Amino acid sequence: MEEVLLVEDIPIEDASPKGAKITIWTLNRPNKLNALNNKIHEEIKKQCVRAESDDNVRAVIIRGAPALPPHEGKKQKPSSFAAGADISEFEGKNSDDVRPFFEDNAWEAIWNLSKPTIAMVDGFALGGGTELALSCDIRFASKKSKFGQPEINLGLIPGGGGTQRLCRLLGYGKAMEIILSGNMVSADEALRIGLVNAIYESEELVESTIYFAKEIAKKSPHTIKVAKRVIRASLDLPFSEGILAERSEFIALFDTEDKEIGVKAFLERKEPLWLGE
Ligand code: COA
Repeated sequence: MEEVLLVEDIPIEDASPKGAKITIWTLNRPNKLNALNNKIHEEIKKQCVRAESDDNVRAVIIRGAPALPPHEGKKQKPSSFAAGADISEFEGKNSDDVRPFFEDNAWEAIWNLSKPTIAMVDGFALGGGTELALSCDIRFASKKSKFGQPEINLGLIPGGGGTQRLCRLLGYGKAMEIILSGNMVSADEALRIGLVNAIYESEELVESTIYFAKEIAKKSPHTIKVAKRVIRASLDLPFSEGILAERSEFIALFDTEDKEIGVKAFLERKEPLWLGE
């Protein structure tokens, strides 16, 4: 049977506490440009449960499987992160058919992870593909990547959080432009407007992304979670309440082992050996 999501765990030997790893999830339908069908959503949701419950998982990277060589006489398919939700699953469906799927989807499962998530985009990230990247905390892309929300051309709007997350990330005007036009956004433009954190040559993308994920994996896993939680709170809370939330979490960190370990290690010019608590 087609394995639509490949999972690879990479151990991080020099991280503490011991056993740390990053997990890489590869959307694996290259002949369909890694379009997100029901099965991929189910597999991603399962992996989210695993990543959340396994203390050793320190960061998640999501990528698309590279394009396969073409069959004889056929054209080469382009490389993709994901070219959107699988449009073939939309035909003939009414609201009752699609509601259960959209009410429990992979975009929110990723968004709700307490651990850092990174989208590694090499090629098309369209519709649900851009939304999957937006569900991650950080986006790295190759220079050939293209983003966009072309749902408007199907008589639809983004349904995986794109209207809200694009607006928060890029602001009202840019979100309107991208969603109302359905136009693609080049990697250069994506970097300029803050849709991606960095762009690389395709050959450098994997190494640079894994390097960054490992850097995060070496911090205190407890402190990383607190940092993500407080930054995330800024999306929902009024500014003054956000400042209070930060202060309260900051003060609470003074009761953790890892704060004492981190401060001592700095003063003694040593590497901190985190306990994760
Ligand atoms: N859902 C289902 N299948 C998709 C798909 C999607 N979102 N995107 C691409 N595919 C399939 C194509 O049907 C095609 O399958 P086939 O070879 O069996 O016929 C294969 O992937 C290759 O796509 P193709 O369109 O032939 O490649 P291209 O290089 O000509 O064009 C794109 C690339 C990305 C511009 C084009 O595929 C596209 O516009 N895709 C849809 C994007 C979209 O609207 N996404 C939002 C969905 S809500």
